[in-house]
Amino acid sequence: MLSVCVFASGRGSNFQALLDQIDQGKVDAQVVLVISNKSSAGALEIARKRGIPALHISDVHFSSTQEYVERLLALLQEHGVGLIVLAGYLKMVPSEVITRYRHRIINIHPALLPSFGGKGLYGHFVHEAVLAYGCKVSGATVHIVDIEYDTGPPIVQKCVPVHDDDTPDTLAVRVLQVEHEILPQVVHLFAQNRVVVSGHHVRILPERREEI
Ligand code: GRF
Repeated sequence: MLSVCVFASGRGSNFQALLDQIDQGKVDAQVVLVISNKSSAGALEIARKRGIPALHISDVHFSSTQEYVERLLALLQEHGVGLIVLAGYLKMVPSEVITRYRHRIINIHPALLPSFGGKGLYGHFVHEAVLAYGCKVSGATVHIVDIEYDTGPPIVQKCVPVHDDDTPDTLAVRVLQVEHEILPQVVHLFAQNRVVVSGHHVRILPERREEI
């Protein structure tokens, strides 16, 4: 079974959505480790309540970047992690980790990339920018993580309408609903080995039917 490590900085609703889908048997994976750069992250609390190892790890706890990277890599290996899910993780993942887990790290972004992505565009800033531009649609993107912010190839994207009377908060609620749908969906695709990355393109292989 696919072993997942979730990196999260915030309340952890995407992590919770993933756990819910796993519980319902819709995602054939297990979360074996949660890492947060914030000690107060809700995601850590959710994990601890379920007995999932949950660690507060930040580069500032280490005397060098190398030590930090080595600790991360050791933990990922110890827990047999096959997929890293960034679910509202607001820190850059070290490039050594990205290289080691090439095409095995995914991120959820609350907009339709490549629009409204990149450094500084996270959380409510994204929704403010979408509304300021006057967009008629927004949505969420799950993409492969590479060494820049939000530039890796999209795996699944889903749209939502933008309403004339939307505020960043009302739009965020609508987008979050689709985040909660597509993030677990993509984890399941990885669990089924159906994600193929070539260059900047991701192909989703068709579901394999059981032989009768
Ligand atoms: C989500 O909107 C995600 O797309 C963004 O941060 C938010 C995290 O929410 N990057 P949660 O912590 O999963 O509730």
